[in-house]
Amino acid sequence: MTGHSAAASVNTVLAELFAAAAHGCRDRSPLTQRLLADAAADLAAGGVTSKIMAGSERDRAGTAPGLRFAGAVHRLVLEGRAPGLAKHYPTAGGRPDLPALWDDALPALAEHTGLLRHRVQATVVQTNEPGRSAPLYGGLVVAAQEAAKAAGRHVPFCVRLLEVGASGGLNLRPHHVGYRLGDTVLGDPDSPLVLDPGWTGRPPADLGHRLRVVGRAGCDLHPVDVSTEDGRLHLSSFVWADQLERWNRLRDALDLAAADPVRVEQSPGPEWLAGQLARAERGVLTVVWHSVVWQYVSPADRAMGRAVLADAAAKATPAAPLALLVFEPRRTDDDYRFELLLKLWPAGISLNLGHGAGHGTPFTWDVSPWG
Ligand SMILES: C[S@@+](CC[C@H](N)C(=O)[O-])C[C@H]1O[C@@H](n2cnc3c(N)ncnc32)[C@H](O)[C@@H]1O
Repeated sequence: MTGHSAAASVNTVLAELFAAAAHGCRDRSPLTQRLLADAAADLAAGGVTSKIMAGSERDRAGTAPGLRFAGAVHRLVLEGRAPGLAKHYPTAGGRPDLPALWDDALPALAEHTGLLRHRVQATVVQTNEPGRSAPLYGGLVVAAQEAAKAAGRHVPFCVRLLEVGASGGLNLRPHHVGYRLGDTVLGDPDSPLVLDPGWTGRPPADLGHRLRVVGRAGCDLHPVDVSTEDGRLHLSSFVWADQLERWNRLRDALDLAAADPVRVEQSPGPEWLAGQLARAERGVLTVVWHSVVWQYVSPADRAMGRAVLADAAAKATPAAPLALLVFEPRRTDDDYRFELLLKLWPAGISLNLGHGAGHGTPFTWDVSPWG
């Protein structure tokens, strides 16, 4: 194969990944779908996209090269570097005109080829969905009350929340978020972030009790520091620009994070968890939480994570109980769905609390045994 035809063939592989990513956005983000479909054609033809993706041609599908490209372009728009393209981006006040999108993208891609190439190579796709605070809040209320019942207490436990794979940490303040249920708002009605949790049914608990969170901490392999403009832009760039509801939710969550900062530590989950779980506080329920993380965790980290948790579970007492609360996709016969699962030690409780949309809302409370 000549150098030229070898380059053409890796670009064809990449173009197929872009086309598949475009297909993955169908029905959800026509803007991203169109951008990626046009970029796929441009890649196959050896256009400017192939210069931007130079060095990333052999990246694995799992690293989502198409979404990294779309995120880098979105970030250009958010930074005000692509005014001719911004008119298509609702997150910059624009309105998509899909047939004209690619022609308006080309000048920005040509002007910022080097910057885009650098960003595509230097970033991993990174999201943080604040809507997942809604199932988390409900699950914590259930956990605090179930642990109290098992310990013979009338008052629910206070919670220490430990999040593995916290990204920017936007779900580390579930008690400071409002959750609108008809005429009432659970949690904090004065919060900058008030979610419509879209609940069918209710958590199996007394929602009149306030959730008390006395500690929270998080870790991530690639934490995003949302106290910086760079961190906020990074997270924002991966929200699809025509999903304004999600975008507004992220803005509100970033405002809340600015008012109530929590640092996310850079660490693989199991090591960090082992350190955090080494001390247990009497009168406090320690909750290990993760959402949409498990699929990304290596087999070695999974095994170590299970061992760390089993060790802490064996040491849990009625006065210093431990919970595992997770919101993760689980395979069904023909698809998968996102389920909220709770385990409590030493009570021996193991519940599937319900299932919902991937971003946490809407959610159906439907309790059954887990495992
Ligand atoms: C799809 S994001 C979900 C972020 C957040 N939990 C949420 O629900 O919005 C998955 C996160 O898991 C992190 N992650 C993957 N493997 C990890 C590991 N072994 N230890 C810590 N974090 C990990 C990634 O860096 C990424 O931030």
